[in-house]
Amino acid sequence: MSHSAPTPSHDWDRRAFIGFLAASPIAGGLPEVARRILAAPAQQQHALITEAGQALEVFDFESAAQNKMPPAHWAYVATGVDNEDTLRANRTGFQRFGLRARRLIDVSRMDLGITLFGQQFDSPVFICPTGSNKLAHAEGEVAVARAAKAKNTLQMLSTVATTSIEDAIAARGAPVWYQLYPPRDWEACKKMVKRVEAAGSTVLVLTADLNPGSDRITLDRGRRADTRKCETCHESAGGGRGGGLGDMKRKPMFDGLGPDMLPYTYPSVTWELIKKLRDTVKMRIIVKGIATREDAALAIKHGLDGVYVSNHGGRADDGGRSSIETLPEIVAEVKSRVPVLFDSGVRRGTDVVKALALGADAVGIGRPYLWGLGAFGQPGVEKVLDLIRVETITAMRHVGATSVKSIPRSAVVASGRG
Ligand code: GLV
Repeated sequence: MSHSAPTPSHDWDRRAFIGFLAASPIAGGLPEVARRILAAPAQQQHALITEAGQALEVFDFESAAQNKMPPAHWAYVATGVDNEDTLRANRTGFQRFGLRARRLIDVSRMDLGITLFGQQFDSPVFICPTGSNKLAHAEGEVAVARAAKAKNTLQMLSTVATTSIEDAIAARGAPVWYQLYPPRDWEACKKMVKRVEAAGSTVLVLTADLNPGSDRITLDRGRRADTRKCETCHESAGGGRGGGLGDMKRKPMFDGLGPDMLPYTYPSVTWELIKKLRDTVKMRIIVKGIATREDAALAIKHGLDGVYVSNHGGRADDGGRSSIETLPEIVAEVKSRVPVLFDSGVRRGTDVVKALALGADAVGIGRPYLWGLGAFGQPGVEKVLDLIRVETITAMRHVGATSVKSIPRSAVVASGRG
């Protein structure tokens, strides 16, 4: 991703090829939408979808959302940190693994269902917690929850969501997991997690990777490029380098906590927080942001109920290691004692199947559903979930697996690429 402006990240060669097709005689017999898309300059093809149903892949929503969203909001979604090495590595990392196709196996009946902590879902793909969904669409996390309900998909709500946990659970019609950025003030933190438990959330997803800070240059550039008066919609667009939107007033999870809760991530937080949380709520507690075997071992030692492998979609450290490359050492350390969740860089069904084959129990998407939301609201999120589901089914069939549990470790090998 360039420093000067956040741009769509999809492969341009393919677009150029479609552009070539547009100029060819075969384009003549196509329906109007397809002809219009094929006739457009390569760079605009993704931007031309006018409704969710026209999307062929999740990247179609990327340009559509970028066209609709204000520059600062778009930059918040797109940003990585520093040189954005980790952000890019999250995509190229998947190429380092190849899927081993198996043939002549009956894969006509597919079951994508999973169960996590007693909750059943129709897909191993879940909705990652992401901040401030109302910056993408006025219905924000509620539209996401409705889409998650329609697809019986796990949704996690961010501490910095623009919808409360109560409203998200009401819209989802089932428990939504809560991603915790622990407020520095323990009394405020206690109040927050007790509220979340009382609302019916069953799993706390303690996030451990933003505490040291994150330097979001693309976000800052997007803010500079945005000529609107941010104060018209929300009190402040501040927060400075490494902050979120710096606007807690429209973050309902901070209601009633007072000013002491700021900052919501802080560098002195340690594993000792787990016991305090355990003594406060009966919810399951998993830790998000694990990127090494050492920390996976500590998560088990501290009695956590799950390990969530993530580098925050390249929004935390810029060490340049892809999340998928960290997964094998963590799975080897965890040894199936607790569920392993995975995210960062997932855009395709093949990415999902690679992560599942490497030992993840569930695989999260972040930016793709925000693109769907920004472009078309709930139908956009639903279509993103559908597209990834269909691709996942196809990729599973190619490795000869008819259920998530039956994807063998041997389905994935080092590709020798990248
Ligand atoms: C929040 O989780 C962010 O990455 O901005």
